[in-house]
Amino acid sequence: MTVRVPSKINLHLSVGDVRDDGFHELVTVFQALSLTDEVTVAATDDPGVEVYGEGEGTVPTGANNLAWRAVQALAAHVGKSGDDPKVRVVLRKGIPVAGGMAGGSADAAATLVGLAALWKLDIGRDELATIAAKLGSDVPFALYGGTALGTGRGERLVPVLTRHTFHWVIAFDQKGLSTPRVYGEIDRLRAEGDPPRIGSHAPVVEALSSGDPRQLALLLGNDLQAAAVSLRPGLRRTLRAGVNAGALSGIVSGSGPTCAFLCSDAQSALEVAAELSGAGVCRTVRVAHGPVPGARVIGGDDAP
Ligand code: C5P
Repeated sequence: MTVRVPSKINLHLSVGDVRDDGFHELVTVFQALSLTDEVTVAATDDPGVEVYGEGEGTVPTGANNLAWRAVQALAAHVGKSGDDPKVRVVLRKGIPVAGGMAGGSADAAATLVGLAALWKLDIGRDELATIAAKLGSDVPFALYGGTALGTGRGERLVPVLTRHTFHWVIAFDQKGLSTPRVYGEIDRLRAEGDPPRIGSHAPVVEALSSGDPRQLALLLGNDLQAAAVSLRPGLRRTLRAGVNAGALSGIVSGSGPTCAFLCSDAQSALEVAAELSGAGVCRTVRVAHGPVPGARVIGGDDAP
């Protein structure tokens, strides 16, 4: 069973104070992008995880791989626990690893959807989302995709109306950034001074419903950007290079270090990508569009 699953960017990421459980209260607007991973799950006598593509060799394949934890969580949920589940998970990665685009979360979401189909479980997306939320804050969004408002840790979702496909250029950095480290850095910056915080999400939601990329471009905001730039100062140059290449605006994606540039249309995105590739400010450049659907089966017995 093979599942395609999107990456995400946060069009708006407002980070509140740290909670007693160590997580931060968020208000965020997610958009699922066409930069995807493909995850195949199969019954086997040789259980485990294999990784190919983006970041292979840097993704753990043992018990702490989030896709493997998804296998165990779903098995426990349906009473298949006991021995290790006899499942092999193959990750074909297009989403950068530790890039702030929820690639690991996407693989976990895809594994839940693939296994539910493989095991022919009578289980809806909302029930999968309760398991997903325990695996990580961004896993439920990867199940639903589209554009959504996230609150809590980011796991409580309501869909947001969009009337337009938006075109993005994505710049991968040389190496990843640890999400907990970036959250720690924002806490540190806030303890030292009072870095400006982005405002309400309401204007972003309005711009999404109007469908005008120029309006949306003015409103993109990410409270974690200051922390990511503090840890990786070269990102400032990357962000400038994307706008100089013709993007409407640029933003650090989630906890970074990947940068996302909103463009006026598909043709402009191709031109910006070509110019940014030559600017020597990042490892890889991709074009993507959003919103796209969440994790869905594309191959296997249940394929549409
Ligand atoms: O939920 P997830 O495993 O993706 O979170 C990774 C880390 O990011 C957490 O351990 C925490 O340090 C940080 N985080 C946070 N507040 C959130 C989401 C994540 O502090 N709302």
